[in-house]
Amino acid sequence: MTNNIFDAIKSHKILPVIAIPNRECIISLGEALVQESLPIAEITFRTEYAEEAIKGMSKIKGLLVGAGTVINKKQAEIAINAGATFVVSPGLTEEVVEYCLAQKIPVFPGVITPSEIQKALLYGLEVLKFFPAESFGGINVIKAYEGPFGQVKFIPTGGITMMNVVKYLANKNVIACGGSWIAPTEQLKAGNFNQIRQNIQQTVKLVQTFK
Ligand code: 3PG
Repeated sequence: MTNNIFDAIKSHKILPVIAIPNRECIISLGEALVQESLPIAEITFRTEYAEEAIKGMSKIKGLLVGAGTVINKKQAEIAINAGATFVVSPGLTEEVVEYCLAQKIPVFPGVITPSEIQKALLYGLEVLKFFPAESFGGINVIKAYEGPFGQVKFIPTGGITMMNVVKYLANKNVIACGGSWIAPTEQLKAGNFNQIRQNIQQTVKLVQTFK
């Protein structure tokens, strides 16, 4: 299972980070992601609808649903019980990592510094979120880690858009990029699925060359 998740994230190249603003948008969003060929979602625990969204979207055939902004064990428990198949965190919290490892659910803690990477490596984790990427040196830092941490694969997230995603994906240690530009909260709130579908189509087209 674990390898399937890594392979799926790697093959889609983009991990849509989503804050669900209301229950009405949950199924439409899941269907748009599947129908427009980006069938993966990181549902963040930033809104009260995270659990419901993970439950609802997990039932959509072909959609891989994970949880994001998981900052404590309680949220990790709720996420996994709701059907999340992977867990993403902005930082490295021991109780989150240890709980996910015990449950055999892939976990991607956020790191920026060498010390944080080393801490993740002690847990045997080699695929890490690099967050917030653009604010902390972006692609230059990822390049600097090629030497000491050549085995580590990154999912840079934070400040990544259609304008700069390509420079990240061109790096051999970047397996995918995360970002909220695919389904921004305002567009979800407005129920603007035409725009969201366009965002997905444009993103899928842009990253095609890296597949
Ligand atoms: C996250 O939690 O992964 C980020 O907040 C997403 O960052 P972005 O909104 O800059 O894409």
